[in-house]
Amino acid sequence: MSFQIKYGKWAIVAGASQGLGAAYAEELASLGLNLVLVARRAELLQSLASGLSTKYEIETKTIVQDLSAPDAAEQIVRNITDLDIGLLIYNSTFSAIGPFLERSLDDHLNEIHTNAFTPLKLIYLIAQQMLARKRGGIVLMSSLSAFQGSAYISTYSATKAFNIVLAEGLWEEWREQGVDVLVCVSGAVRTPNYIASEPEPTGGLGDMTMNPEQVVREVLNALGKQPYVIPGRVNRLASFVMRHLLSRKAAIQFMGRVLRGKYVGSHR
Ligand SMILES: NC(=O)c1ccc[n+]([C@@H]2O[C@H](COP(=O)([O-])OP(=O)(O)OC[C@H]3O[C@@H](n4cnc5c(N)ncnc54)[C@H](OP(=O)(O)O)[C@@H]3O)[C@@H](O)[C@H]2O)c1
Repeated sequence: MSFQIKYGKWAIVAGASQGLGAAYAEELASLGLNLVLVARRAELLQSLASGLSTKYEIETKTIVQDLSAPDAAEQIVRNITDLDIGLLIYNSTFSAIGPFLERSLDDHLNEIHTNAFTPLKLIYLIAQQMLARKRGGIVLMSSLSAFQGSAYISTYSATKAFNIVLAEGLWEEWREQGVDVLVCVSGAVRTPNYIASEPEPTGGLGDMTMNPEQVVREVLNALGKQPYVIPGRVNRLASFVMRHLLSRKAAIQFMGRVLRGKYVGSHR
């Protein structure tokens, strides 16, 4: 069934101005969906929106909104009351990398707001319409770092674990009611954010990074078929080893060693 028939004419991508968000926007536009694009940088959003409307002959609307704001979800919903939103992609994230106490409390709370509080509220406000129509799709973005505690990104990985468990629960709750929920548990993806956070390109991990377009295609293909997807064969294999062959304690320590080497620079 085409995406338009299954989900309706409009999709919203929260965190759309670059990287994975822009790749979601492009793929959905190519499937003929109209787009609401949300992020903070107005110029990037506007140029993406006008490029996609010309290329794919779709309608677009941009909303400049900081998704860490306590009323972000309400502000967005106020701007889309006239649109039949069938698909919600929550891509935006904030990730405070480094030793826990060296990041400000505000940074940790920002992670909770951007990665957990706002997506929960947006789902709460938008899914009511989807359930009433018995038609809709919701995609949350998570990370392989969320399968166990991950040192130096503890709060980020905790918010991403929240996304996995929330999506799985809602998948089961709504799967018979026409609303598909999916969480993407992603490995490294070559987005501007990822590239900026990499202290140095690493041989092994560098080889495992995926293109945003590959990730998006695997995610949209999995939507409606399963509660979660891990894009990329190498990532699925790594996650199998971490979750089923190592003990949880060993997995936490392994992640700790990798992240310490990457972000703290000493292999203690
Ligand atoms: N990249 C990876 O390696 C990787 C790995 C695992 C999981 N993931 C997940 O994939 C998703 C995308 O990750 P990414 O970091 O690579 O980002 P990205 O796709 O490069 O872009 C993040 C988008 O979110 C927007 N954004 C960020 N903070 C925002 C805020 N407070 N308010 C509004 N918009 C905001 C940014 O636009 P503005 O700056 O214009 O606002 C940008 O468009 C995240 O959920 C992440 O957890 C990524």
